[in-house]
Amino acid sequence: MRQNIVAGNWKMNLSFDEADNLIEELVEKLEENELAPNTRMIVCPPFPYLELCSDASVDSYFAVGAQNVNENDNGAYTGEVSATMLHSMELDYCIVGHSERRAYYGETDALIAKKVDQLQKYDITPIFCCGEVLEEREANRQFEVVKRQITDGLFHLDKEHITNIIIAYEPVWAIGTGKTATPDQAQEMHAFIRGLLAEKYGKEVADEISILYGGSCKPSNAKELFANPDVDGGLIGGASLKSEDFFQIAMSF
Ligand code: PGA
Repeated sequence: MRQNIVAGNWKMNLSFDEADNLIEELVEKLEENELAPNTRMIVCPPFPYLELCSDASVDSYFAVGAQNVNENDNGAYTGEVSATMLHSMELDYCIVGHSERRAYYGETDALIAKKVDQLQKYDITPIFCCGEVLEEREANRQFEVVKRQITDGLFHLDKEHITNIIIAYEPVWAIGTGKTATPDQAQEMHAFIRGLLAEKYGKEVADEISILYGGSCKPSNAKELFANPDVDGGLIGGASLKSEDFFQIAMSF
């Protein structure tokens, strides 16, 4: 059975002390309340706070992931972080292909495919992001765009490797805008993505892959979004910076 997942993407936010407080508050909540069965929480802080979060997660119930990775093993790539480094810190997850990386840092589908491979080479599960921008949705091109992102970013993987992927559908017009996709819009796209996976790898494989929704997900809309059969949780930006909000979202299954 595929997992329900709530992943927090802190992006480039918080001081060290603020990160410390947030993670402590989260641990307290998880010590007092159990998440629903088959539910996993993942926290993705900026690189400098990975160790802080990993240390806090030891006796607790969340996993830790990075927000980006370089496509090379190591070497003269100033400012970059490799999968070997993340692996040596025993991290289990890493976001790849976030729309902000695609838009501001020119990441292409081909580069993202390399990053996926690099993470899997070191046993780190990629949280693979896809999603259309507003003009694409307005032109009714959202399915074509997401199909291209999934095909070019993931479909070089064999059956064994595709099951070690989490997909996050994040319509770019909903990220950080307060404008959420309706539960129907989310379900429609998630079912489309699962259909693509089923066509390529078979239904059994497609049914094992968690597909998360991202984009202005908050405590007030999480339940309705997660109630859809093909929405297996969320990738949460802004609301993951408040322990109570993030925790409430994680309790929405
Ligand atoms: P948001 O961000 O929840 O702040 O809209 C989601 C994301 O970009 O992962």
